[in-house]
Amino acid sequence: MPTSEHTQPGSIPPDSLIDHSAAIQYWNSVSPDVNGMLGGFPQISRIDLRASANFLAKVRRLIPSLPESGSLKLGVDCGAGIGRVTQGFLSNVCDQVDVVEPVENFARVVQGGPLKQAGKVGDIYITGLENWVPSKRYDLIWNQWCVGHLTDSQLVEYLVRCKGALSEGGLIVLKENMSTDADKEDMYDELDNTVTRTDQKFRSLFDRAGLNLIKTEEQSGIPKTLGLFPIRFYALRPN
Ligand SMILES: C[S@@+](CC[C@H](N)C(=O)[O-])C[C@H]1O[C@@H](n2cnc3c(N)ncnc32)[C@H](O)[C@@H]1O
Repeated sequence: MPTSEHTQPGSIPPDSLIDHSAAIQYWNSVSPDVNGMLGGFPQISRIDLRASANFLAKVRRLIPSLPESGSLKLGVDCGAGIGRVTQGFLSNVCDQVDVVEPVENFARVVQGGPLKQAGKVGDIYITGLENWVPSKRYDLIWNQWCVGHLTDSQLVEYLVRCKGALSEGGLIVLKENMSTDADKEDMYDELDNTVTRTDQKFRSLFDRAGLNLIKTEEQSGIPKTLGLFPIRFYALRPN
């Protein structure tokens, strides 16, 4: 989520502080709407979604086995919340989108929404990414503002599972906040129980997972006056 309030508890590895049940408890206290998903900054949703569509279009040109235009067959929105990204972006570029979200209250919004009724949303998996084992082949595995809920080793294991669940031209995208720590360390947020990682940390985890970074870009256009973290896209393919 695009907050910028973090605390730094000394030299303990920030990801060792992650507590999944505390995170779920936190998200259960958040309203199931765009304001809740975006930490009180609903006004950035439009620019966020537009930038994501632009980024994907650029990445598709880099993958010969993926058609440059036209719908992708199957995508998955990971850590989807109420399905904001599915509704405003992924459903426009994929024939069908599966959803992974551990908070039932949020998953229920997707389940009862018009995209589910129309068949644009496929399966909804109510689970954390650390436990999700994909059973299909995806053209696009989209992760936005959610992998901070996984420890470093959980994230590597998760990415390895995702790598094995890609279609031939498929890709994994992460869109996440970047640490602004003066000492270039990851930062722990005790409010929502997440780790905000450095660019360097992300790249080392991608390496460990055997993934190639085919494109990365910073999200632009979000007013600096909001005081949010920088946000970065990463597009990944198997080595
Ligand atoms: C900041 S919201 C982002 C939601 C959505 N990706 C968006 O951009 O609108 C973070 C989401 O991560 C979910 N989450 C919490 N723990 C998670 C976990 N272990 N695995 C996957 N998602 C998790 C929360 O329930 C919440 O829906």
